[in-house]
Amino acid sequence: MAWSVGAGLEGKGVIVTGAAGGIGRAVTKAFATTGANVMAVDVDQANVDAVVGELDGSGHVGAAADLRDLGAHDGIVERARAELGNVYALANLAAVLRRRGSLDEVTEDDWDLQHDVNLKAAFFLARAAGRAMIEGGQGGRIILFSSQGWWTGGFGGSVAYAATKGGVTTMCRGLARTFGPHQITVNCVSPGQVHTPMLMTGLAPEVYENMKKQTPLGYVAEPEEMAGPVVFLASDHAKYITGATINASGGFLMY
Ligand SMILES: NC(=O)c1ccc[n+]([C@@H]2O[C@H](COP(=O)([O-])OP(=O)(O)OC[C@H]3O[C@@H](n4cnc5c(N)ncnc54)[C@H](O)[C@@H]3O)[C@@H](O)[C@H]2O)c1
Repeated sequence: MAWSVGAGLEGKGVIVTGAAGGIGRAVTKAFATTGANVMAVDVDQANVDAVVGELDGSGHVGAAADLRDLGAHDGIVERARAELGNVYALANLAAVLRRRGSLDEVTEDDWDLQHDVNLKAAFFLARAAGRAMIEGGQGGRIILFSSQGWWTGGFGGSVAYAATKGGVTTMCRGLARTFGPHQITVNCVSPGQVHTPMLMTGLAPEVYENMKKQTPLGYVAEPEEMAGPVVFLASDHAKYITGATINASGGFLMY
């Protein structure tokens, strides 16, 4: 077998959620360069169509879905199986961060929205995709997105968000144990700070500058810098890695 970055991904079906977001777009593009067939999932059809329009190769699909609607998950996976040919990998990036100034400002709606998208939808979509991978009989890859907040606990108004990411990291381990016998690996990528709408919305300039100072590499990552870890985890190179959380934080955290 010739050595390539995306080894094993050629002709494979990959679902990317949050595909119209900062990191999701970069991840979707990177998968397309490996020869995988990609389904880009996000809330708005025009946005996913725009992402698909930028991809290398053909056979990619844009699917609009609000992942809080758990009843839509089987349909997404079925459509991917039908239109991509198979479902081999899921990269679940869809998430929301509602940054609040303090704990007191966090509402029940903030709590519910972040948990519904970041944790609950991640569980049910991973389960639906895992079932399709088992039926496909080729093994599979599930890549979840955590955040430095899983470790730090977040700061003030992001505690609820951080709790969802703690849940994702723990869930990743449980899913990895459950799906392991089927040669389906489940891992997390845990970014530090990445230059996307999620990070920048409502972020005070001095906080941004401080983030850079606290990061040994001295800068906030660009979305493309998260794509490598995701493609690696989906490739054959990572076939013996499961239940891991890959710390992609520029040294902001070290574990
Ligand atoms: N940007 C950072 O600094 C940072 C840091 C740590 C972790 N992360 C994680 O990386 C991942 C990608 O984040 P990003 O920075 O690209 O954010 P982003 O806001 O640019 O993208 C998130 C995407 O998820 C989509 N989404 C939200 N709710 C959805 C729903 N109900 N159904 C379907 N799609 C939905 C949004 O429409 C958006 O396109 C997230 O899981 C995030 O928590 C980001």
